[in-house]
Amino acid sequence: MNTSFTLEKVLEKIRPTEEELSEAKELYSNVRDLVLKTLNIEYPFIVELEGSVAKGTALRGEIDLDIFILIKHDEMTNEWLRNNVIDPLLKAFKDMYFVQLRYASHPYIRIMHRGIEADVVPAYWANDPLSIKTAVDRTPFHTRYVKQHLKEEQKDEVRLLKKFFKGIGVYGAEIKVQGFSGYLCELLIIKYGDFMETLKNISQWRAGTVVRIEQLDETDKVLRIMFQNPPLIVPDPVDPRRNTAAAVSKQSLTTAVIASSLFLKYPKETFFFPPKLKVSFNTLAKFLQKSDRETVFLVYKIRNQVSPDVLWGELKSISRKLRNILTNRGFSVIDARIWSDESKMSLIMLDVLLPGRLTTYELRVGPKVMKSDNLMHFMMKYLSKSGVIGPWIGEDGKPYALVRREYIEPKQFLESLTRQEMISKDLELSMVTDDIRNLEHIEVNESKKDDFIHWLTEAVLKKPSWLGIDGVSSSLM
Ligand code: CTP
Ligand code: MG
Repeated sequence: MNTSFTLEKVLEKIRPTEEELSEAKELYSNVRDLVLKTLNIEYPFIVELEGSVAKGTALRGEIDLDIFILIKHDEMTNEWLRNNVIDPLLKAFKDMYFVQLRYASHPYIRIMHRGIEADVVPAYWANDPLSIKTAVDRTPFHTRYVKQHLKEEQKDEVRLLKKFFKGIGVYGAEIKVQGFSGYLCELLIIKYGDFMETLKNISQWRAGTVVRIEQLDETDKVLRIMFQNPPLIVPDPVDPRRNTAAAVSKQSLTTAVIASSLFLKYPKETFFFPPKLKVSFNTLAKFLQKSDRETVFLVYKIRNQVSPDVLWGELKSISRKLRNILTNRGFSVIDARIWSDESKMSLIMLDVLLPGRLTTYELRVGPKVMKSDNLMHFMMKYLSKSGVIGPWIGEDGKPYALVRREYIEPKQFLESLTRQEMISKDLELSMVTDDIRNLEHIEVNESKKDDFIHWLTEAVLKKPSWLGIDGVSSSLM
């Protein structure tokens, strides 16, 4: 038996089947006919297929349609759209399909039919990318650019790159992932030719790298200033005012660079199909104890049904805030992660090293800038407090004081905070625990349960699953 790794074997698993493609195309043509029959507006419009099915870069099992209605109406408001496009279409679709009205920056309709999702998105029909009104209006230009520049044999190369990015967890521009969009994958293949050549280039990227798809007069330095120093800059060939890689975070960039270098050295399937580890809550609890970590979980109920971008945005901001507060109070926070089923439950995990080994006193440092009022405030505060050692003035000109530490355990400290500091508009705190076993029975959307356990296992073991599971079982002993 030949067990050696080849890209062809991956492709055999990720190329869409004829059946799913023809089902999707049939759905498109039915939706298109229905739109043309239903809409009764005084502006010219066309229905056009965008997205990966139109570009020939979709992955098996993930055939989603992006159906755009391009309307030549210069003063199109969301209200006009609701009354003249969305509402009549909702009515017409309802009898045939399962439909939902959704909002991103714009209203659109999601149709779900026999396992296929189709977004029906109204947009402004612009003559050229410079006269677009909102970001959605740019999409048709992206589709056209890719159709013109991506060669037939490169479509499989895009599929490999997308699946690789999915495997290592950096595919998608949404807030949850902050990674590489489908369009960005296509541009990289257009630029570098194929999957392997793209990985070779990515492995050489560093923070602030500029990738030019088309020639531009501006220097790298000017582009970095223009786009305000993002981790990665890929000016959009259809609209160079925009950075196609604007969503890519430092974490996603580093993940892509490391995974590319590793894959070039040790190519294997786990990069595309990471093993899904599942370990019991008891084993996880023991592992945490053995590694001297106190891991605090904040469990939230989702109060209002909001879009995933809003939800993950709120979670990221609470988690960042709590991590900072803990770090400032001397706790050694090594990691903070977030999970959500995007319907009922969300969770923040704060991973803290060496609980209970904090010193009796903690150091407080006065203001950095020498300003009489602030200096006085610091001195008076600690002069009048009991149990304080100091205050004194250091060689660096800053005042210092040692105060008795109130909280040794991160969980106790978090509980001493006001609820206001731990919640947000759409999230209600339902539990704070430092015992992972308490998560076994919390309410999670049934369809996301497996994903939750895999996420939790990886969050505890700390090694990304795309690296494979070598050595994992021994570390759990
Ligand atoms: N789009 C949008 N609003 C939606 C759905 C899609 O504006 N409700 C736009 C996206 O911004 C993107 C294009 O449609 O420019 C296609 O989006 P997406 O499905 O994310 O990318 P694909 O290239 O189709 O890749 P995938 O295979 O992941 O679907
Ligand atoms: Mg799509």
